[in-house]
Amino acid sequence: MAAPRLRLGVNIDHIATVRNARGGALPDPVRGALLAIEAGADGITAHLREDRRHIRDEDIRRLIASISKPLNFEMAVTDEMIAIALATKPHAACLVPEKRSERTTEGGLDVIGGHDRIREATTRLKAAGIRVSLFIEPSVEALQAAVSIGAPVVELHTGSWCEAVTEGAAQAEDEFERIRIASAKAAELGLECHAGHGLDYATAKRIAGLPQVVELNIGHFLMGEAIFVGLPQAIGLMRAAMDEGRAGV
Ligand code: PXP
Repeated sequence: MAAPRLRLGVNIDHIATVRNARGGALPDPVRGALLAIEAGADGITAHLREDRRHIRDEDIRRLIASISKPLNFEMAVTDEMIAIALATKPHAACLVPEKRSERTTEGGLDVIGGHDRIREATTRLKAAGIRVSLFIEPSVEALQAAVSIGAPVVELHTGSWCEAVTEGAAQAEDEFERIRIASAKAAELGLECHAGHGLDYATAKRIAGLPQVVELNIGHFLMGEAIFVGLPQAIGLMRAAMDEGRAGV
């Protein structure tokens, strides 16, 4: 049986990062989301951080009102974010760890240490009809915890692998193997498997060769490329890389 089509979720946080660098309203992340969808994105991802360093509350409301594809709302497991998700009802919520000091989401959720708190949040979000995914390290223990938490979806953190590839580090293949094994295990456990963080054309193409992965969420690289070639072309090239990687799987 052929592998399912691989969806591309475009993370638009950095459009808001640029907007906020100057203050004011431009560039508008909602315009970016509409353009990304026109260029082939299957969904839009936005992370409302506690310090509102990029996406703001109003952006989430405008996105939900404006876009024709699913919104994946990235959020920390806090009372504030749970309340916002329950009030705005995005299509999906991806639960991520968040520390004020970090530049980006540096590791997967602690689904073992935070099990009960994450389970409670997951139950509340699911009851509101929101599809919950957990951003986790690619490990069997984390996958088993995700099942016990009751999440239907996991997003495997590809950051360590992508970093190792960029640095030409010897452990890059071991990191990829962890992702490959985790994606197969996720399917075996009945979890829908997504992946993301740090992906570029080459790493997205390779991940596309894993048949159990059905969605990639990509932001930083696409927005960087967009500066040089424009957002539609960057998304078109990413789509082509993903299709090439998936061909024949
Ligand atoms: N998935 C999750 C859960 C994230 O938090 C992020 C952003 O940090 C991404 C995917 C996208 O990562 P990047 O911007 O490196 O493509």
